[in-house]
Amino acid sequence: MDSPDAGSTSPKPQDEGRASSRRGLLAASAAFVVGGGVGAAVGALASPAPAPAPVPGAPPLPWEWAELDPLEAGRGAYRLYEDPVRGGCGSGAYLSILSLLKEKVGYPWTTLPDLMMSHAAAGYGGHGTLCGSLGGASCIIGLVAYGYGEKGQVFRQMIDRLFYWYAKQEFPTDRFDDISEMPGQIRVKAMSPLCHTSVSKWALAAGAEISSKAKKERCAKVCGEVVYTVVLAMNEYFAGRWAPPRWEPSEGIRHCIQCHGPDDMWHSKPGLNHQQGHMECLMCHSDHTK
Ligand code: HEC
Ligand code: HEC
Repeated sequence: MDSPDAGSTSPKPQDEGRASSRRGLLAASAAFVVGGGVGAAVGALASPAPAPAPVPGAPPLPWEWAELDPLEAGRGAYRLYEDPVRGGCGSGAYLSILSLLKEKVGYPWTTLPDLMMSHAAAGYGGHGTLCGSLGGASCIIGLVAYGYGEKGQVFRQMIDRLFYWYAKQEFPTDRFDDISEMPGQIRVKAMSPLCHTSVSKWALAAGAEISSKAKKERCAKVCGEVVYTVVLAMNEYFAGRWAPPRWEPSEGIRHCIQCHGPDDMWHSKPGLNHQQGHMECLMCHSDHTK
């Protein structure tokens, strides 16, 4: 992609609150103009899997993606969540995708340890920060989409997009209800990519404790949904059909960003430049301009 704005597929403000914005991650993918970065990635995908390297150590990024079945990957994550050793949200998300890539691509995916993302469970070490499913899935995004230089930054947009998609979802979805002992659970908006808001708001609405079977079931479905969505998006991306949009502030915080920005990681725009991030400001701050 020639500029970070290529494809300019940011969702319109009126789309922001759509309950079923799962497909929103892929919004306007047809409008995507294939750029150099994507062409190169697709070219790499077309060649056969490289033979295991005779030398130890991992090759440079990005690693090869293979088209995967989103539902198979999502179900794998849902089931892995409950695995007593390899389970939890971070591990479930990461390992489900990883094991399919090990099967389909082989090396270098075979070099990665199964338990690499176990620590991400419960918002990393139980701290309730980033939802571990997002951590596990974005680890894979980084490995397959990492790029060098200005044109290689699309993996950041993918992860940013994934996180604000997540914040708007009403979890858990019913996608895994056919294999769940607890179908039709109450759905609550995650509000942020933080495990803390995502889980605690749900627990309050569901009248469930964090240690309950219902909460685990809910988080297993979240893990599955995140993986389903990421696999769908990566398939589209490597097929040259999707460009992740750049983040745009929602209506209510546009003015915050204008003063407190910049909103990019390059700090290239004017502004006070003393806050970092794309979360919904009003979740934690009041509007001092009103
Ligand atoms: C017109 C410009 C402007 C807008 C719009 C604006 N701010 Fe500010 N904000 C400021 C300035 C100037 C300060 C004081 C900065 C300082 O003292 O360093 C400030 C201070 C703050 C602070 C720290 C001190 C405090 O008062 O708590 C927070 C947090 C903050 N703003 C959040 C927000 C949020 C959230 C929004 C949007 C809902 C927003 N601001 C909109 C200019 C703005
Ligand atoms: C998850 C909660 C959370 C979110 C979301 C959040 N903030 Fe904050 N922010 C904080 C906390 C906590 C502090 C520290 C406040 C303090 O020290 O009193 C802070 C500090 C700040 C400050 C003070 C910086 C300084 O030292 O002058 C500004 C400005 C600010 N936030 C703006 C924003 C803006 C703009 C957004 C939206 C893009 C935002 N925040 C989103 C929790 C949040």
